[in-house]
Amino acid sequence: MSVIDRPVDLVFTRRLPKIELHAHLTGSISRECLHDIWETKRAQDAALELQDPLIAIPLGKVDYDIKTFFPLFSSYIYKLCNDLPSIQYSTKAVLRDFQADGVVYLELRTTPRAMPAVHLSKDDYVKNVVDILKVHNEDDQNAMRAFLILSIDRRNTIAEAQEVVDLAIKYQSAGVVAVDLCGDPAKGDVRIFADAFARAKAAGLKITLHFAEGEVSASDVELSTLLSWKPDRLGHVIHVKEEYQEIIKEENIGVELCLSCNVHAKMITGTYSDHHFGMWRRTTVPVALSTDDVGVFCSPLSEEYYLAAQHFTLSRQDIRVLCERAIDSIFSGPDEHGRLQRLYADWDGWTES
Ligand code: IMP
Ligand code: ZN
Repeated sequence: MSVIDRPVDLVFTRRLPKIELHAHLTGSISRECLHDIWETKRAQDAALELQDPLIAIPLGKVDYDIKTFFPLFSSYIYKLCNDLPSIQYSTKAVLRDFQADGVVYLELRTTPRAMPAVHLSKDDYVKNVVDILKVHNEDDQNAMRAFLILSIDRRNTIAEAQEVVDLAIKYQSAGVVAVDLCGDPAKGDVRIFADAFARAKAAGLKITLHFAEGEVSASDVELSTLLSWKPDRLGHVIHVKEEYQEIIKEENIGVELCLSCNVHAKMITGTYSDHHFGMWRRTTVPVALSTDDVGVFCSPLSEEYYLAAQHFTLSRQDIRVLCERAIDSIFSGPDEHGRLQRLYADWDGWTES
């Protein structure tokens, strides 16, 4: 049996060394981990007013849409993960979960968050996350390497966006590789962030942007503005007219595609087989299958590869091409490029049954 004939099943996609390029830290925290944090807090404070996460976000519930998704963070998860112990505990758990799923290279993104009640600044928050990634990366037992992207939220002011860039520059040598634009697509005017992203680029940071996630964030003004910043990668790319698709292809901008998130949140019309992954995989741009918020949508990256294989009849060879092409769009330097290229070249799982 040749490599092409062997089945792409869950055993294969779990073993597959995977590259995850679009994962939000707080959205990647599992229900179980949130529950652990809640139990610890309740043991310390019997009057804790927050509901048990297993009730607030029931196991198996994944049908969060654009209206219910963002409030889940602002009105619940951020209230639970609101101090240093919970940030440290959840960040370590997120790294463990990605690695246990066979991820070998992770670019995790997060929005710097101050927690004044416990005297934690945005800088403290970023420093703590960076330190946890550093400890993880320095441990030879870990097969996965992790880097950080700092997110500007669409609701940020110009000054807040500039502060994110300041922090990204400050921690660049400690593992911050890029700046992202995220948040509720119905909010904000992206044009105000032009200078912040220009400054990030000038400092040698990469840029990734949530792009045309909803029709509401897919106007000509918005998409042409975002493309004028010369992004290195784009997330979601759902409501994209052909003229912008052509620019993405010409400029070979990597796309981060999140199948389950888009299906469960009804961001696309139809289901998996209707996903625009089917179109982008036929182009030559790097395509990184990604989870977005595995804590909310509950489909780990191994399952995303499996679903893509099922719905688009991908062979092991197709998956190999996809994975190797995604290396071109990672944000860290030549060491990681080389490590990932060797990893795929030497991996014996391509032909094993
Ligand atoms: P954090 O940045 O680590 O706190 O991760 C959670 C945050 O990521 C949310 O509050 C949103 O602002 C952002 N986020 C997560 N998923 C999406 C998405 O699909 N589109 C835009 N923003 C998102
Ligand atoms: Zn996202």
